[in-house]
Amino acid sequence: MSIDKTCWVEISKKALTGNIDSMRARLNPKVKIMAVVKANAYGHGLLEVAKIAAEHGVDFFGVNNLDEAVRLRNIKIKTPILALGYTPLANLKDAVNHDISIVAYNAETINRLQETAAKYKKNARAHIKIETGLNRQGVSPQDLPDFIKLVKSKKNIEIEGISTHYANIEDTTEHSYARRQLENFQQAYELFQAAEVAVKYRHTACTAAAILFDNVHFEMIRLGIGLYGLWPSKETKISAYERKIGDFNLTPVMKWKSIVAQVKSVEANSYIGYGCSDFVTQNSRIAIIPTGYYDGYDRKLSNSGYVIIRGRRAPVLGRICMNMFIVDVTNIEGVRPEDEVLLLGAAEDDAISAETLASKIGTINYEVVTRINESLPRIVTD
Ligand SMILES: Cc1ncc(COP(=O)(O)O)c(C=O)c1O
Repeated sequence: MSIDKTCWVEISKKALTGNIDSMRARLNPKVKIMAVVKANAYGHGLLEVAKIAAEHGVDFFGVNNLDEAVRLRNIKIKTPILALGYTPLANLKDAVNHDISIVAYNAETINRLQETAAKYKKNARAHIKIETGLNRQGVSPQDLPDFIKLVKSKKNIEIEGISTHYANIEDTTEHSYARRQLENFQQAYELFQAAEVAVKYRHTACTAAAILFDNVHFEMIRLGIGLYGLWPSKETKISAYERKIGDFNLTPVMKWKSIVAQVKSVEANSYIGYGCSDFVTQNSRIAIIPTGYYDGYDRKLSNSGYVIIRGRRAPVLGRICMNMFIVDVTNIEGVRPEDEVLLLGAAEDDAISAETLASKIGTINYEVVTRINESLPRIVTD
């Protein structure tokens, strides 16, 4: 059966590799790059993105869970992988057997990892997450000395890394909280040194931190949103400009597309869509787009979004439905069934950015792209 190409995502290999190169140019050559491909590579397609990034020489992959990690191993990706989310104790055997590093911050995880590795006669690798101020995952400072003693006693666990995550790096141009977190991280590292626990990778920096501050790079950075050519926030852009890092280039990787399913005329003074939520006051042409909120086209774009058809903007009329929505093409010449419809991405002389959609629906660019339904085809271009 041929693929159902009514709604799909195109990803530009050129943009993706260009974004990796931009980040490389920003870093000391010794600093490794972890490509964060969790959440279906931020909606871009886990396997498609990982293949390109692996070929382009990223040093590590960051996934959320072992399911994602094993899918990478199944397509013969040999690059080291770190599961950034919580790994249930019962699944640690998969980490050991597929050679996947895990993030650890519970004694239960360390104990079970040691038993599991012993059972399969292997060594396991863990990255200890340090709580420095986000108050999410991580070992709290008061628990760290005992935790270090525990991990040091487990001879078949390699402490491959220690890490932390910044709480307030994207949302602000004032970074004193991040600096405090960095100090806390450095104090934690000193405890590892004092206990003579060797640590191969210290990693703290997400995209925003990596762009803005050299002293957070350590041995590795975790590149998420920047890999996909999106800026973490407006504040990060402003901070980069203020810090004279203005020449840092990112190119959006994704184009999200659909087609026209039907074009028809409606008379002046007609209601459009569910709830009669729109109304045209003039004779109009409308087009039906076979994409809906199931696909990730947010219902809050009802009566407010727009798409690009034949290079022109077509506003959304009425409600976004589960599998379709309606646009006004009155002012666009010659629209026909199966014309291509741009939902997100760059057009020749225009664009619909993830940030534009995010501002219309009250969220951030991260959420717009990650929520595009995983079942839609991802097609690699150039
Ligand atoms: C622990 C961790 N590291 C790195 C990242 C990547 O962050 P960004 O996408 O801002 O680069 C994330 C993203 O959510 C994360 O949770």
